[in-house]
Amino acid sequence: MKILSTLLLLSSIGLSACTTTSQSVYEQLGGAPKVDQIVENFVVEIENDPVILAYFEGANIDRFVEKLSEQICHRTGGPCEYTGDSMAQVHAGMNINQRDFNRTVDLLINAMNKADVPHPLQNQVLKVLAPTRDEMLYL
Ligand code: HEM
Repeated sequence: MKILSTLLLLSSIGLSACTTTSQSVYEQLGGAPKVDQIVENFVVEIENDPVILAYFEGANIDRFVEKLSEQICHRTGGPCEYTGDSMAQVHAGMNINQRDFNRTVDLLINAMNKADVPHPLQNQVLKVLAPTRDEMLYL
């Protein structure tokens, strides 16, 4: 009986070791080159969407690219510090509504599709960015 329970214990440890993935979302993406590609594609998507582009009038795009890359890297478990302003501070006064927020997320999805990010991984990226939503809507 003792042997049986020991065997069961060992097999369950083995199973959990196999099913646990130690790779961060950042690593699964392929690190900095892929994050840069996503952000570059995202800027192109924004430039081609008059509704969202209107929000960026007067914005510093170079800074946006740098800070958004940092933030995606940081939130996906990469080795970056986010050195930008808080999401609430940045987006305050923009009056972003749910429709335009969703529209922006669609642009990010287009950017990830064009960077060949597999859909399950896209969902993980969206999941780590989702908490920013409540920090910026209707501010
Ligand atoms: C997935 C959600 C979003 C994330 C993670 C995000 C992240 C960021 C980051 C990191 C910055 C740069 C912060 C800094 O300069 O310190 C930024 C700036 C900006 N974001 Fe967002 N953002 C999101 C959604 C949106 C939406 C929905 C809009 C408008 C429809 C928007 C409009 C802007 C604009 C216009 C700036 C530039 C502000 C400026 O330079 O004056 N963002 N965002």
